[in-house]
Amino acid sequence: MPESFVYEAPGKAILFGEHFVVYGARAVVCSIDRRAVAESSVSGQGILSVRSALQSADMPLDAPTGSVSSVLRPFHHMAVSLDCGGALLSLRSDIPVGSGLGSSSACCVAAAGSLLALCEAPASILDVAVAAERSVYPDSSGVDCAACMRGGAMSYVKGFQPVPSAYTADLRLVIADSGVVHSTPQMVERVGMIAKADPAAFSALMAEADAISAEALERMARGDIRGLGCLATKNQALLERVGVSNDTLRRMMGVANRHSYGSKITGAGGGGCIVAFADASGADETVSALTEAGYRAFVAQISAGAHAADNL
Ligand code: PMV
Repeated sequence: MPESFVYEAPGKAILFGEHFVVYGARAVVCSIDRRAVAESSVSGQGILSVRSALQSADMPLDAPTGSVSSVLRPFHHMAVSLDCGGALLSLRSDIPVGSGLGSSSACCVAAAGSLLALCEAPASILDVAVAAERSVYPDSSGVDCAACMRGGAMSYVKGFQPVPSAYTADLRLVIADSGVVHSTPQMVERVGMIAKADPAAFSALMAEADAISAEALERMARGDIRGLGCLATKNQALLERVGVSNDTLRRMMGVANRHSYGSKITGAGGGGCIVAFADASGADETVSALTEAGYRAFVAQISAGAHAADNL
């Protein structure tokens, strides 16, 4: 019988359709080769102890989940819902925090995987992770956890199972971080205000976003990276319309667009990251140009999904 259970989950990048996915449009998303690792073991009865670089605490499981800090609340939520008794949960991650690359979702999926194994609970890892994430951010579309769980590239519609999508191995995703931490709930609220102010205009944007995602899935499977870059530019124009872009992100995309086929915000915007679509010949140049301009940039590989690690 192992003493502790280790589970890992990759980060993610939304390639098309963020924000509009909250209202039912299709998104295209993939996992990336950065990961969160969670290790759970039995510990003091009635206490969940979390250890992570971001925050650590010993939390009574009979405390109201709402009273727990937002960083630790998802883990308290899952330990209570799984009736774990008492556990020590250690988390580590190389996914940048607050930058739209799925750091919190990957931690939720990894923690759910390890706690479920520890507690021998029959629930689905994805359901537990999404419910835990919604303890902090009730409007979450679930797209982030779905990508971190499944891995690969996929299309996602809120409330439905993700559908795996084919992608060309030549595709290079260049990700650059503005270094500005963003708040997903705040950005989602901002878009919500725009949607409420003019529902007809917003549903026209939604239809465009959905059509862009549909076309992107076809081009991804066909290996048309240039076409994906054009669609990124079109998708970005919609994100500009819903108020989630800013001068820093526009400057970064300007640099990226000189060496790649096109770029856009990835995730909630307001800060966080952009993603540029390139092939092998343009990816390194795009990274160099963004790095010279002062941004942390790297080429991300589409990775495998969440899985149990060698348990101890
Ligand atoms: O938290 P982020 O930056 O990965 O953004 C989440 C994606 C949104 O579409 C903006 C929100 C959602 O719940 O889908």
